Amino acid sequence: MRVLVTGGAGFIGSHTVDLLLERGYDVRVLDNLQPPVHRERHWPDYVPAKAERIEGSVDDPAAWREALRGVQAVMHLAAHQDYLPNFSRFFHTNAAGTALLYELLVAGPALQKQVKKVVVATSQAVYGEGRYRCPLHGTQFPGQRPLAQLERREWEPRCPVGGETMTPEPTREDDPPQPHNQYGISKLSQDLICLNLGARYGIPTVAMRYSISQGPRQSFTNPYSGALRIFVQRLLHGRQPIVYEDGRQLRDYVTVWDVARANVLALEDARADFQALNVGGGRALTVLEYAEVVGRTLGLTVSPEVPGRFRVGDTRHAISDISRLRALGWEPQHTLEEAAAGYAGWARVQQDFRDYSDEGAAAMIEQGVVRSAGSKGK
Ligand SMILES: NC(=O)c1ccc[n+]([C@@H]2O[C@H](COP(=O)([O-])OP(=O)(O)OC[C@H]3O[C@@H](n4cnc5c(N)ncnc54)[C@H](O)[C@@H]3O)[C@@H](O)[C@H]2O)c1
Repeated sequence: MRVLVTGGAGFIGSHTVDLLLERGYDVRVLDNLQPPVHRERHWPDYVPAKAERIEGSVDDPAAWREALRGVQAVMHLAAHQDYLPNFSRFFHTNAAGTALLYELLVAGPALQKQVKKVVVATSQAVYGEGRYRCPLHGTQFPGQRPLAQLERREWEPRCPVGGETMTPEPTREDDPPQPHNQYGISKLSQDLICLNLGARYGIPTVAMRYSISQGPRQSFTNPYSGALRIFVQRLLHGRQPIVYEDGRQLRDYVTVWDVARANVLALEDARADFQALNVGGGRALTVLEYAEVVGRTLGLTVSPEVPGRFRVGDTRHAISDISRLRALGWEPQHTLEEAAAGYAGWARVQQDFRDYSDEGAAAMIEQGVVRSAGSKGK
């Protein structure tokens, strides 16, 4: 069986390619080697020679046609991710690229018959803040925190009914999605497109809502994939991590190897068809606790800087309920320590490994994405 992996030269895509090859699939990769994820715009050496490579974009029908020739399944992982205000780009790549895939499948009855499964990488970002419990008003799904609140350093979302402080709870796939940044909105569009068109045209489709994924091969310069990359870059260059807000925001980080296993499960198990599946680590840590895990793994003392900066459009807490995927037999098997050690081991031997964190932060401050609380913006 031949599987097309879009974004297969990227972080999650390349680990998925490895696992597919290991399991005996023929693999083709479609990737446009997009900067700044790929600084030099050449194929990374971790993309195995056994995988067929096509350089092209998912917003180009000709590239899709060539890539779809003779494949029985598509893992659509290519995406534009960052925090910068290039809003339209998110929708061209993430939403329109996905719509184009279904457009081509539906236009050709032979192609529709040939492609038996589509697995699409969407994101936990579709939920926005997700599920909370208010001590007085029960379950709530708060919207985006107002800018004025963040500038007062009041980080916790308030109950939309009475303004109380709430407790975050794991968000379920059927909870209402309320993304509040351009990336999340584009991923929700993609999620709706694939599940809706998949069901309408009988194309078995699974939408994978990954939590923040960690492990080796995270691009040094992708402005989106953050914590591990930045913490390791800074710590291995004798500097302390800088954390946003007060560092007490919760994340259910998941390792890239477990994400790749979830992708292959979704490909192979028909019980996943036509569903959204959360893919998270099953355990929530604060960003400060995560920095501690990374430091411990590297054998370094960690004392993060907490300057009171925040990212506009960020979620306070992000925790997914993974019981639906667990019911299909998947469990997180790898630890965050393994992911941190794997990333540091890989990073250290890359020729272009250095500390890029100041450049990334400067671009985000310059464009008003990262702000200092109390300073009214830039
Ligand atoms: N990394 C995470 O924490 C995370 C979390 C949730 C969801 N996701 C989703 O998982 C998928 C993979 O993410 P990743 O972290 O591996 O990202 P990545 O940036 O490492 O890889 C994405 C790949 O897509 C390619 N690409 C970008 N635009 C393209 C285009 N127009 N045409 C063809 N290829 C293009 C890039 O060159 C890159 O190789 C994405 O869909 C992302 O939105 C990632």
